Amino acid sequence: MTCRVIQISDTHLSPAHTHFQANFDRLRAWLAAAPPDLIICTGDLSLDGAEDAADLRYAAAQLASLPARCLAIPGNHDVGDYTVLGGWQNTDAARLARWREILGADHFVEDLPGWRLVGLNTQSLGSFLPEEAAQAAALADAVAGAGGRALALFLHKPLCQHRLDDTEVNYWPVLQPARAAVVAAFGATPPRFVASGHIHQWRDHAPDGLRQIWAPAVSFIVGEESQPSIGSKLLGVVEHLLHPDGTHDSRLVTIDGLALNDIVKLPHLYARPVAAA
Ligand SMILES: [Fe+2]
Ligand SMILES: [Fe+2]
Repeated sequence: MTCRVIQISDTHLSPAHTHFQANFDRLRAWLAAAPPDLIICTGDLSLDGAEDAADLRYAAAQLASLPARCLAIPGNHDVGDYTVLGGWQNTDAARLARWREILGADHFVEDLPGWRLVGLNTQSLGSFLPEEAAQAAALADAVAGAGGRALALFLHKPLCQHRLDDTEVNYWPVLQPARAAVVAAFGATPPRFVASGHIHQWRDHAPDGLRQIWAPAVSFIVGEESQPSIGSKLLGVVEHLLHPDGTHDSRLVTIDGLALNDIVKLPHLYARPVAAA
């Protein structure tokens, strides 16, 4: 049986700032018309859950209202970001504990016919917090126990911006050496694809032979003033049709009625546009 997985990302919900709620409501209606087997949310479900538990709690309730089971992994807006980036919200024990309290585990392993899906918390990578080591052990177990299933990896931040051996330190991808460690953990059975969010651009490319699919956001794009285009600035979701023989069809799905919000033009919602995605 082919499983239809819908990947949603970057919904950026908040009970206080409801500007992106209409897009989420439109997404929910679209999903209800043809519910998938599984929904995976690749992070930044909240607008500012890293600061305000109310945002995270509200976003979790919104995901729970979707018409299919939903697995979620955190983004920087939910649990903070890498200390090396020098921002104002570092991933720390308190933020990870808050995620656990509201949403449960920050990583997952989900088996479907012919497939093993692994979702990782990119925000704990390089933190040296216990959650990072626990996740690394879970990843090793997931790969070792895959039993011939095709593997797929779901992340908030993409593994890399251009190439896997990039060394640039910036806000957008998983940084080294964590990136190399994640790739190495798969050993001789690399994932068939890596699906991520965070960039708020759609992109489907295969640097170094590894297919990487960047889901667009549901909420907003980031204008050229703050972020150059690498992929396509549009809104939507990604449909992954996972066939039991380990092949898959992954494609962008745009949804009629999503408002093409630009966060640069909405500074009152999140007044730190350099790190708006
Ligand atoms: Fe993000
Ligand atoms: Fe985002």
